[in-house]
Amino acid sequence: MPAIAVLGAQWGDESKGKLAHLLSEGADLSVRFNGGTNAGHTVVVNGEEIRFHLLPAGSLWNCTAVLGNGMVIDPFALAAELKLLEEKGHRPEIYISTAAHLLLPYHRIVERLSGVGKGLGTTGRGIGLAYRDKAERTGLRAGDLLSPRRFRERLEQKLQREQEIWGESKELQQIGPRKLADEVLQVFEPLRERIMETAQLLNRALDRGKRVIFEGAQGALLDIDFGTYPYVTSSSTTIGGIGVGAGVSPRRVERIIGVVKAYTTRVGEGPFPTEEPGEIGTRLREQGREFGATTGRPRRCGWLDLVALKYSMMINGFTELALMKLDVLSGLSQIRVATHYRRGGKLLEDFPSGAEALAECEPVYEELPGWKEEIGECRHLNELPPPAQAYIAFIEERLGVPISLISVGPEAEANIPRSSLFAESPKFR
Ligand code: GDP
Ligand code: IMO
Ligand code: MG
Repeated sequence: MPAIAVLGAQWGDESKGKLAHLLSEGADLSVRFNGGTNAGHTVVVNGEEIRFHLLPAGSLWNCTAVLGNGMVIDPFALAAELKLLEEKGHRPEIYISTAAHLLLPYHRIVERLSGVGKGLGTTGRGIGLAYRDKAERTGLRAGDLLSPRRFRERLEQKLQREQEIWGESKELQQIGPRKLADEVLQVFEPLRERIMETAQLLNRALDRGKRVIFEGAQGALLDIDFGTYPYVTSSSTTIGGIGVGAGVSPRRVERIIGVVKAYTTRVGEGPFPTEEPGEIGTRLREQGREFGATTGRPRRCGWLDLVALKYSMMINGFTELALMKLDVLSGLSQIRVATHYRRGGKLLEDFPSGAEALAECEPVYEELPGWKEEIGECRHLNELPPPAQAYIAFIEERLGVPISLISVGPEAEANIPRSSLFAESPKFR
């Protein structure tokens, strides 16, 4: 099973980190191909919670971490993440694409000055501005660090330009280009030899039959093209993102796993048809500890949305799903699932990705019986209460794709594996 993709099927925070970590045991390479520190991927091992922002969650194993060209990398955040891992006894071998863009302090400042972050409820990390520079062709890339002189010159030009545009900003004026260049070069000093053409590294590894895990950040509905624009992130979060952001043809990815939370959450602004702003939403937030792994913001919560998931499946071609956080639904007497939308009196089957159209959609629900029992200790399907089994069967049947793993707790081992892919892992033997 050489290449596996782990992709968020909703609006992010589906528990991709947990799944990617599980699958990376025994993998050779673990790869991030999009986003930056807007991602917060949580892994819980031996009772300890570790959050990844830039490194793939597979970095806890003895597998090589690759930061692909589609990422925007904050050097200081990377150094902090590596240091944290080192303190916990992990020293992952890492490679960084020469074509990955650098996210530098002025991106965060300009995001704030431009007001973009506020209107969209972004993570405030400067992500959109770093991708703006990439599209504008004024960004600095990891490969520029290989020639310190050129890096210094380009950084100086870039800062000068930003300072001219945002002349009023003291914060921006205070960034000394020389000092910043020194600091960035210093952070990358131990990583210089690790900056390389990672597309070649990955394709060669696949040629040799190596096992590669691609860990998506965010989710399909936050994709720059296919998400609920403009309430999206600025990168490709879907299967196509692997081609764009890692230089590996999606044809080489044999299993495309859609990571689905058993309900839906969203952080930041934008339409969310199945949102439950009242009691149910509060209950899901508390039971599911739905507070952002990056910003700590409370996540908006609501019911599972099959209209959105069908769309996500269409874009990604999921070969299977992993259903996460099923335990959070315990204790509800009824569980609702949106099967259609209603818009202007018409019944809709297809997800309209445009924010304005989606905001006009009302969910049409089917109700399923809930269950009272805690299920965190269940490890086999038949240990689940019958209504929980029926919920899984309902999702599989309506989406027409198998659910190969059910997650019933944050801990790495709290799972019900259902396919040989998972049974293969030593954790599940
Ligand atoms: P990601 O961004 O997709 O990696 O997801 P996050 O890490 O941002 O959010 C998922 C949260 O749910 C984390 O706090 C996980 O520890 C937690 N989690 C993962 N799987 C489960 C599960 O099956 N049940 C419960 N209760 N929590 C889970
Ligand atoms: P992971 O990988 C959930 C959301 C932000 C905001 C929008 C744009 O942990 O699933 P950005 O800072 O990217 O410009 O913000 O996207 N967002 C996420 N929501 N999980 C994430 O990542 C997210 N990354 C960005 O809240 O609505
Ligand atoms: Mg997250």
